[in-house]
Amino acid sequence: MKAATRLFACVLVGMFAASALGQIEPGVPGSYPSVAVKETPHNLNNYPAVTGTIPGNQVCLPCHTPHNAYPDPDGQIHQVLWNHEETDVSFTMYTTLSGQTGSGPDGPSKMCLSCHDGVTAVDNYGNPWTGELVGGTTVMTGPRAIGRDANLTDDHPIGIQYPADRPAEYRAETSFDPGINSGPGVRLVTIDGVKRVECTSCHDPHNNGLGRFLRVPIQESYICLQCHIK
Ligand code: HEC
Ligand code: HEC
Ligand code: HEC
Ligand code: HEC
Repeated sequence: MKAATRLFACVLVGMFAASALGQIEPGVPGSYPSVAVKETPHNLNNYPAVTGTIPGNQVCLPCHTPHNAYPDPDGQIHQVLWNHEETDVSFTMYTTLSGQTGSGPDGPSKMCLSCHDGVTAVDNYGNPWTGELVGGTTVMTGPRAIGRDANLTDDHPIGIQYPADRPAEYRAETSFDPGINSGPGVRLVTIDGVKRVECTSCHDPHNNGLGRFLRVPIQESYICLQCHIK
């Protein structure tokens, strides 16, 4: 019994040591921890300003609802039973050296920016019974409000076509390594038939095992080297 307790204690200490030192081995998905939505900043109950306002403690509700999802005013993101007010900010987009200017946010990027624009209230989502917005007013501030001041020129380009025609500079999509839970690592998002880089190419809003909701580790800039050959 004593030995078992001691072994258990050693295992625990080992686990803490590993997580404290952030021993994530880039390229070894088995070493990537997994952290569910409930334990992340995407559980709005964990965001101090809006504590306690989600009916029935429904962690998914600010983003999804099974029925009567909040109507999609511009028809751009009528997907994944999206249940949050949409950003209507007109962003200034990044232009790359190759001359590509990102298209304004569409699809999943528009979903992210509906909270991360620093304008749209994070707690303004659809009431599942009426389909009307609940009318929250908490706005995100600081460095996590990625699209603040309508500016996306200081952020990695999104809404841009992946240059599969430049194989010396960009890895083939088929060679992207696995990420958290050994699932897809970085990925391209097809919108209007074009394979693009969007927020969800690098982030998974549901799993914060790697921190910053990343799909693959940032250590050794591993995430960057999934696409860029440098
Ligand atoms: C902070 C917002 C947010 C929360 C909270 C959230 N999701 Fe999502 N979810 C998204 C976004 C954004 C997408 C679109 C992702 C994409 O296109 O890759 C998505 C996509 C999905 C999808 C379809 C694509 C996929 O990844 O399987 C499912 C299913 C889903 N969510 C389920 C859930 C469930 C269940 C919960 C609650 C436990 C939840 N989500 C909580 C933002 C959220
Ligand atoms: C319903 C609102 C909402 C939506 C939609 C949303 N987020 Fe968030 N997100 C938040 C809040 C609130 C925080 C915590 C902000 C803070 O602490 O300042 C956060 C934090 C984050 C963080 C920092 C996590 C960390 O480890 O500290 C990242 C990265 C992030 N979100 C990415 C995304 C991406 C990518 C999407 C779209 C796929 C998205 N979010 C959609 C509300 C949202
Ligand atoms: C090409 C990959 C990539 C794309 C595309 C991308 N991000 Fe990120 N993002 C990252 C990485 C990597 C980090 C972590 C940086 C670090 O920890 O040093 C990050 C960090 C963040 C953070 C946390 C910032 C902080 O200071 O804590 C937020 C919020 C975020 N991203 C949201 C978004 C949103 C919203 C989009 C789409 C508009 C987006 N990201 C597109 C790679 C990306
Ligand atoms: C999912 C694939 C992907 C990932 C992951 C990724 N990038 Fe990119 N990156 C791109 C694409 C595509 C472009 C735009 C290429 C073009 O249009 O010339 C780009 C553009 C850039 C540019 C601007 C180049 C220019 O011409 O202005 C820089 C700098 C950059 N990425 C750095 C990074 C860094 C640093 C990381 C890791 C934190 C990263 N990227 C992760 C795909 C990716």
